Amino acid sequence: MGRDGEHRRLMEAAFGDTATTYDAEIAFFTTIAARTAAGAAARHGSGRIRTAVDVGAGTGALAAALREALRPERVIAVDISLGMLRAAGRHDDRVLPVLGDAADLPLPDRCAEVAGSATSVRFFDQPRRAAAELGRVLRPGGTVVLSELGGVDRKWLFLADLVRRAARRAPAGPPRGSLPRPVPLTELLADAGFVDVETAEETLVFRFTDEHQWWRWIRGQSAGAAIRQLPAAAAEAVERAALATAAGFADLELHQVLRIATARTGP
Ligand SMILES: C[S@@+](CC[C@H](N)C(=O)[O-])C[C@H]1O[C@@H](n2cnc3c(N)ncnc32)[C@H](O)[C@@H]1O
Repeated sequence: MGRDGEHRRLMEAAFGDTATTYDAEIAFFTTIAARTAAGAAARHGSGRIRTAVDVGAGTGALAAALREALRPERVIAVDISLGMLRAAGRHDDRVLPVLGDAADLPLPDRCAEVAGSATSVRFFDQPRRAAAELGRVLRPGGTVVLSELGGVDRKWLFLADLVRRAARRAPAGPPRGSLPRPVPLTELLADAGFVDVETAEETLVFRFTDEHQWWRWIRGQSAGAAIRQLPAAAAEAVERAALATAAGFADLELHQVLRIATARTGP
């Protein structure tokens, strides 16, 4: 299988079957998308927007938030996973889902005034090419926005350790592509030729009603896909240990750092 097919398969495994449960428990990605779109709106100002592009759109949370914040005539939502994309645009005929790779967008040059991506860049296998592609599809003076998850409270880090330890012991070894590392957004945009790069950081607070709701939420994320790839007994052991640890926490608040970078294309 070539690079494209292999990455597509990994992303379908990580996200394709989570599309319906993905944001069901708490408004995690919709909140992040709203903050990301607000960043784009503050940066872009009041110029007319015909087309906005959401890359790594998943179920279209950013596409919907861009529609709300910027009122473009249309948002093109691009994702490599058909499973995720099926959910994008379901409720809005001005969101147009398009199957495609961030590194080779199936869009013409200079077709959009605003383009961006919410929490997806770390999943792209070629983030630098993806940043260049965002520059290519934007018109001169267009606005790019990227958001990326930063850290969470230390108390939640135990889960990644549990999964990593269980994966190391699994006969097939660690699942590939499931726990990617963040990408530095400022450098990515500057290296791709964007100008006036600005970054902001905020902490969002999410609350779970109990440890079971937290676990259902985890299972709907890409971490859930990593757990599902473990042998059944190992996955059950991770679940038992995780629920026991979370049940012991004084509160079930998750403080999530969100980084938002905006920039402009040159004249
Ligand atoms: C964490 S999800 C974020 C989804 C969405 N931005 C949201 O806020 O709901 C990452 C998404 O990136 C997509 N993705 C990964 N690699 C991609 C690529 N090379 N091209 C396009 N989409 C990609 C995945 O399929 C997945 O839907």
